[in-house]
Amino acid sequence: MRVLAIDQGTTNTKAVLVDDQGRVLASASAALTTDYPRPGWAEQSAMSIWTSVRDVIGQIVRSEGVPDAIGIANQRETLVVWDAGTAQPICPALIWQCRRTAESCAALIAAGHDAEVVAATGLGINPLFPASKLAWVFAHVPQARALHEQGMLRAGTVDTWLLWCLTAGASFATDHSNASRMQLFDTRNLQFSAGLGRIFGVPTDCLPTPHASDSEFGETAAGVTDLPAGVPVLAMMGDSHAALYGHGVRAPGQVKATYGTGSSLMTLTPTRVNSAHGLSGTIAWSTAAGPVYALEGNITVSAQAASFMAGLMGVADPAALSALAQTVPDTGGVCFVPALAGLGAPHWDDAARGLLAGMTLSTTRAHVARATFEAIAQQVADVFDAMGRDVGQPPERIRADGGASGNPFLMQLQADMLGCPVQTADIAEIGALGVAAMAFGNLGVDMPLPAPAQTYSPRLSADIRASRRTAWQQAIQRAGFTP
Ligand code: G3P
Repeated sequence: MRVLAIDQGTTNTKAVLVDDQGRVLASASAALTTDYPRPGWAEQSAMSIWTSVRDVIGQIVRSEGVPDAIGIANQRETLVVWDAGTAQPICPALIWQCRRTAESCAALIAAGHDAEVVAATGLGINPLFPASKLAWVFAHVPQARALHEQGMLRAGTVDTWLLWCLTAGASFATDHSNASRMQLFDTRNLQFSAGLGRIFGVPTDCLPTPHASDSEFGETAAGVTDLPAGVPVLAMMGDSHAALYGHGVRAPGQVKATYGTGSSLMTLTPTRVNSAHGLSGTIAWSTAAGPVYALEGNITVSAQAASFMAGLMGVADPAALSALAQTVPDTGGVCFVPALAGLGAPHWDDAARGLLAGMTLSTTRAHVARATFEAIAQQVADVFDAMGRDVGQPPERIRADGGASGNPFLMQLQADMLGCPVQTADIAEIGALGVAAMAFGNLGVDMPLPAPAQTYSPRLSADIRASRRTAWQQAIQRAGFTP
């Protein structure tokens, strides 16, 4: 049997054909562009997202034939709003990076709504999440209200949009992991909440029906892609959640870290946890047995710090910066805080700015290069430590994926900065494998997942680690963080 896993990300849409042994038989990808029409705004064409999915499905089906089922992993928190009558989006997709609702979110916090929203959703009020974005659409896109009154408005995350398109409008649904990122979903009773809708000033009857992540979400319709009618969609999950599932993490204790532009760290929790240390409480996934809860921390600028610094120093690329960094044994006291778009978890300071501290006349470019990689590891350690404080004991290890996890120097630094092992996945498609494994589960097949490819053990003494962590915390405070 074969599952076609669609991994719809911000920069790329991939389709990966996986067999029941977990082998990748074929893959295809299509690039996507993001528009930044004003400072802080970030948009994509929802139609281009759908077209890219149609494109990669076509590439696989034409060469490999028809799969037995489909799984969807997707960029999360991106809002798509469309007209069910014309099947056309009524505005661009407001993607997760978009900060256009920063002011309205600040006003909601100032009005005292944060505690109630956190209690229901696990998420602090923030422009990242679709709730405030949907309010923006109602306030600024003229058709929204009229279509809503006619019962023709549909709003949802990318999973929902793709499912609706694949099924030619027959299925309007989401899974609990994606729903839990909308900030309109009460993770205590697994329902969208009219009360949360009132806080944000949006109706909830234009939102999809939430289901367990391994549900039978619908079947492909004839004529919309190269697939025939009747191929079932048997799993949907947010991409970060699918990666955690793909690493085979099924119990608390391990942390998944994805090293991309930003970083997402996620760890399972035995029960629903509202963070007291700057993380998000979320649903990892759900099955017939119920939801599995998690804590997540999103770092805004992670591996992107290396591209940024390479550009600033006129070094060819992050790989060259990494080689330069390894020519010195330490940073010589230099600290770089890559708060280049504010600071995300666990500090949450939109006003923070990047900072290069601790330079002396003996500082070299190599020290600055090394400080850049140390900063990536330090930010991950901040979230890791917050997870330990929230759950009452330090996690055992990190399971790493994403482009920069292929850099052994960074992974060793990471193990050193955490004081625990880091295990890497030697496969780029870990999220696609995760959602494929879940879809196979729905077909009664236990698809094996890849074992960790490499383990990095900490080499730094506890004293040196503690002093570097302290220096970093001081630099973070100077970048603008006020505790
Ligand atoms: O939370 C946003 C995240 O899901 C985006 O993922 O893979 O598109 O960077 P990606």
